[in-house]
Amino acid sequence: MNTSFILLSGILVYLTLVVSVARSDPVEDKIALLDFIKSFPHSRSLNWNPNSTVCNNWTGVNCSLDRTRITAVRLPGVGFTGGIPQNTISRLSELQILSLRSNGISGPFPSDFANLKKLVYLYLQFNNFSGPLSVDFSVWKNLSVVNLSHNSFNGSIPSSLSNLSRLTGLNLASNSLTGDIPDLNLPNLQNLSLANNNLTGNVPKSLLRFPISAFSGNSMSLMNSSIPISPPIHKAGNSGKLGEAALLGIIIGGCVLGVLAFVFLLVVCCSKRKGEIGLSGKAGKGDMSPEKGVIGSQDGSNRLTFFEGCNYAFDLEDLLRASAEVLGKGTFGTAYKALLEDGTSVVVKRLKEVGVGKREFEQQMDVVGRIRHENVVELRAYYYSKDEKLMVYDYYSHGSISAMLHGKRGEGRISLDWDTRLKIAIGAARGIAYIHTENGGKFVHGNIKSSNVFLNSQNYGSVSDLGLATLMTPLAPPIARATGYRAPEVTDSRKSAQPSDVYSYGVLLLELLTAKSPVHTVGGSEVVHLVRWVQSVVREEWTAEVFDVELMRYPNIEEEMVEMLQIAMSCVVRVADQRPKMTDVVKMVEDIRRVDATDHRHSSESKSESSTAAPTPPVVGTESSSIQT
Ligand SMILES: *[C@@H]1O[C@H](CO)[C@@H](O)[C@H](O)[C@H]1NC(C)=O
Ligand SMILES: *[C@@H]1O[C@H](CO)[C@@H](O)[C@H](O)[C@H]1NC(C)=O
Ligand SMILES: *[C@@H]1O[C@H](CO)[C@@H](O)[C@H](O)[C@H]1NC(C)=O
Ligand SMILES: *[C@@H]1O[C@H](CO)[C@@H](O)[C@H](O)[C@H]1NC(C)=O
Ligand SMILES: *[C@@H]1O[C@H](CO)[C@@H](O)[C@H](O)[C@H]1NC(C)=O
Ligand SMILES: *[C@@H]1O[C@H](CO)[C@@H](O)[C@H](O)[C@H]1NC(C)=O
Ligand SMILES: *[C@@H]1O[C@H](CO)[C@@H](O)[C@H](O)[C@H]1NC(C)=O
Ligand SMILES: *[C@@H]1O[C@H](CO)[C@@H](O)[C@H](O)[C@H]1NC(C)=O
Ligand SMILES: *[C@@H]1O[C@H](CO)[C@@H](O)[C@H](O)[C@H]1NC(C)=O
Ligand SMILES: *[C@@H]1O[C@H](CO)[C@@H](O)[C@H](O)[C@H]1NC(C)=O
Ligand SMILES: *[C@@H]1O[C@H](CO)[C@@H](O)[C@H](O)[C@H]1NC(C)=O
Repeated sequence: MNTSFILLSGILVYLTLVVSVARSDPVEDKIALLDFIKSFPHSRSLNWNPNSTVCNNWTGVNCSLDRTRITAVRLPGVGFTGGIPQNTISRLSELQILSLRSNGISGPFPSDFANLKKLVYLYLQFNNFSGPLSVDFSVWKNLSVVNLSHNSFNGSIPSSLSNLSRLTGLNLASNSLTGDIPDLNLPNLQNLSLANNNLTGNVPKSLLRFPISAFSGNSMSLMNSSIPISPPIHKAGNSGKLGEAALLGIIIGGCVLGVLAFVFLLVVCCSKRKGEIGLSGKAGKGDMSPEKGVIGSQDGSNRLTFFEGCNYAFDLEDLLRASAEVLGKGTFGTAYKALLEDGTSVVVKRLKEVGVGKREFEQQMDVVGRIRHENVVELRAYYYSKDEKLMVYDYYSHGSISAMLHGKRGEGRISLDWDTRLKIAIGAARGIAYIHTENGGKFVHGNIKSSNVFLNSQNYGSVSDLGLATLMTPLAPPIARATGYRAPEVTDSRKSAQPSDVYSYGVLLLELLTAKSPVHTVGGSEVVHLVRWVQSVVREEWTAEVFDVELMRYPNIEEEMVEMLQIAMSCVVRVADQRPKMTDVVKMVEDIRRVDATDHRHSSESKSESSTAAPTPPVVGTESSSIQT
């Protein structure tokens, strides 16, 4: 009796031991992961030691409660390149969370993911996947969040998505998807973005509850109201015209002007220091005075004011005849590209909400027009009347830095390499520092943002739109686009100061580093502030994760990127007088390139430890915030 009891307990203890040993590690899943990592090139090392236990020990891996299967793999920003090796990670048949976001993964959507039937969260955004989404999404019955944004997927949106009854978040933004949007009947869907693709047709009824931003950057219309949503900007041969009100005004003004005035303009413009071209008043008396109803005729101010060194021979009439295309709507008005008959292009900016009188406006223009610097976009002429305020600038064929960073992939978008981004940063800094020396060292730009920075002929940054902020009526808060650049202390755009310019410049640097907009809404609801996001990521020592994936292909620039990141962070500190002066910022950004690769002076106190050479930082970190399970 006794012996058999002891024997029995012995067997039980033995069995328990065996079972617990077996339980401590999901053997098959472990092999699958080892196969995966072995055949998938990556730039950061992982602590996936075959001799240690997987569960709660391997970076980015989580197991089921009984530790028999792997349920989560989160490997953002590990530097994967190439295609996902077939039949490796897809063997983790109990996987619920898979995040491979922010890598450089290319190739088609992995067809063998169909084996991951338990998938609930799939994050593949910010990679380089391409080809059509030719998978049947119905296999993932429990899928709740799918994020494939910022890849190069093409083809149409699969209608099998409408089988995913548990789907709450779907982000396919910034791919190259085409065709109509299928009628996705997804009652639980709360976050949706299909923005920045090449989708056409109408927004289906089932998705009309989502904000327009979910569909922006496509050529769709809302229902059949034919409201074009953010019309494509550069469409050769299909250019729009100046806004109707402006046109009307210009037409009337232009007709009155006539050929005589044009010749007159040519002469006056380049002979006078500041040639004031009269459509009425001083220069154009008698027969040339405009009729009633002409733009601003009430205050007798119909003239285009040119600045010194005018190379342009045009007037309002020419601007009228020019084919104009909308370049974009900015904080202070709409910008048009006007192609003059002689082949030159200028940018005409139509200001709205000017809050100062003519005199004050002209005084400010006098200061702005005098600023000459290779890193400041020149104001060529302006026009002020009661109803219309126009600014004329040089045209830059590449478009703004914003367009280059955030434009659609393909469609002639120039990908900004690291050298160019450095030169943009240096040029913009020099331009702003120069602006700050004007007006007795008190001048403020007031509206620094990537859509106001252009590439000059040497491919350095050149800033535009200066000195307008103080002229405007206070902007109704919160204008999201502007607030992303606006320093926290600036509550009234007219009261910007030089430290707030420094802040905005810091945001511009972050934009160059991350290629993310300073404020972007996600799925129509969540607002992401670039500064806060970077600050949180860097605080967690996740520095490498903030950088634009497109920069990953350039070798040996990590130290420079980290250095620029540090400069940016010092510019966006909350307390205004702790920010560096613009002249110091110029020196710092100029120094980025002078740093000798072997000189560790800068990296000693930096967070550059997160680069490849350094010990692996925790990969889970920030990911957990975006996944709630
Ligand atoms: C794993 O353990 C074996 C011996 O048990 C040893 O030879 C091997 O080097 C270890 N591998 C690693 C990566 O530590
Ligand atoms: C975790 O892995 C390390 C080696 O990477 C090992 O020394 C340690 O014992 C492991 N911990 C557990 C709980 O397995
Ligand atoms: C996942 O694993 C990590 C360690 O790798 C651990 O810190 C974390 O608590 C785990 N999360 C869950 C949900 O089990
Ligand atoms: C889906 O999730 C439920 C629990 O939420 C689970 O019972 C079911 O097995 C899952 N189905 C699949 C196919 O994974
Ligand atoms: C999608 O892109 C691939 C190349 O990545 C191309 O071969 C294919 O024709 C494209 N398909 C569509 C529908 O545009
Ligand atoms: C999945 O969706 C397709 C197309 O929408 C439909 O034909 C099919 O019946 C659906 N399958 C299931 C299981 O719901
Ligand atoms: C929508 O997205 C935001 C941010 O990603 C998240 O906080 C929120 O929980 C999401 N809602 C759903 C239902 O997924
Ligand atoms: C998808 O990824 C983008 C970019 O990281 C993120 O902003 C967004 O919140 C994600 N959307 C969902 C639904 O998870
Ligand atoms: C977008 O679609 C239009 C017509 O549907 C096509 O002409 C154009 O080339 C497409 N652009 C891209 C980037 O796919
Ligand atoms: C436009 O909407 C009306 C109802 O508002 C509907 O009768 C008509 O069929 C729609 N036209 C198209 C082309 O969808
Ligand atoms: C993305 O893939 C395309 C080819 O599909 C390649 O030309 C490009 O260099 C890749 N970009 C990155 C950042 O790896």
